[in-house]
Amino acid sequence: MQQTAEQQTGWGTGYVRSISPYVGGKPIAEVAREFGLDPARIVKLASNENPLGMSPKARDAICATLTDNPRYPDNDGYALKQALARKLGVPAEWVTLGHGSSDILEMAARALLTDADAGMYSRYSFIVYTQAIQGVGAQHQVVADHDYGHDFDAMLRAITPKTRLIYVANPNNPTGSFATGDVLHRFLGAVPPHIAVVLDEAYVDYIEPALRYDSMAWVGEFPNLIVSRTFSKAYGLAGLRIGYGVAQPALTDVLNRVRSAFNTSTVAQAAALAALDDQEFLDQSYAINRAGYVQLTAAFASLGLRYLPSQGNFVLVQVGDDDRAGARVNQALLRRGVIARPVDNYGLPQWLRISIGTEAENAACIAALRAHFADD
Ligand SMILES: Cc1ncc(COP(=O)(O)O)c(C=O)c1O
Repeated sequence: MQQTAEQQTGWGTGYVRSISPYVGGKPIAEVAREFGLDPARIVKLASNENPLGMSPKARDAICATLTDNPRYPDNDGYALKQALARKLGVPAEWVTLGHGSSDILEMAARALLTDADAGMYSRYSFIVYTQAIQGVGAQHQVVADHDYGHDFDAMLRAITPKTRLIYVANPNNPTGSFATGDVLHRFLGAVPPHIAVVLDEAYVDYIEPALRYDSMAWVGEFPNLIVSRTFSKAYGLAGLRIGYGVAQPALTDVLNRVRSAFNTSTVAQAAALAALDDQEFLDQSYAINRAGYVQLTAAFASLGLRYLPSQGNFVLVQVGDDDRAGARVNQALLRRGVIARPVDNYGLPQWLRISIGTEAENAACIAALRAHFADD
């Protein structure tokens, strides 16, 4: 039998070898090459990016800092942390910057877990939790979902003496499910204080206003809470890799002990700072997302496809009832120049996750789905 490279070399511990590398959405250039398509006509709805691009203020800030990089960035991100603190109403000392919020998620695992501990998350939740926990050799506790969302009572019941860290995404990726502030607050109050909770709010800016809650106040209330957020989604800075975590000083201290040196670039810090106050751009991003949600879900309904309600910038849609359906429909969409996201790696092989794009991008996706199901 052929040996894998790892078996031949013996590199990496068993738990590192058991990590499945993160698979991102397919890049446009790759799909153009593979399917012989014009890249300009390809629509990418695979990575929950902002279809409006980025704030013009961020673009200007990027241009202004491009020539300013012979020196290392500010390792403490002073200006950005001050601005975040003002905006969020928390002390700047509570903020940790990350190269994307994934960096914060990983710092939490590195800082808080050993291979004698366990980290917990829900089934059908963000795959980086699996990797972060596995990366430090800790045990993972995957708790069954409730209707594709978190089952908080089951999570509380699943706590063992080994549990040290719990990840909760709200809204959740890839399902789009949402827990209300009341439910979350009750959960946070019931988690024993020696267990840290990372409340991952990557999609917070897409939550409908009537459903929003004040997680920053909860950081003051719960010394075991880390709230993580990102500039990758509504702020449109995914390519620059910048996000942050907010926690009380004791937790912030340990996050910073494992943070890589100079983990956020000068350009990313400047762009995030400029983007932070562009409320007009954020409002536009929210509005186009809500309109796109209505456009896509109406089309799914008219095609007889089941979808899950989403408070994020993506929708999970069931494209068949056999376990090849996601892969099959994904290929059919790729051939028609639409990149969606298969989610079989999440245990959802009958579904595709479709990011919400501009009206024209959504229309292209809908047309490709219609064409596929008409031919089928
Ligand atoms: C739930 C969730 N958390 C965190 C992230 C991380 O994003 P980033 O590292 O770009 O901030 C994502 C990205 O898709 C996500 O879906």
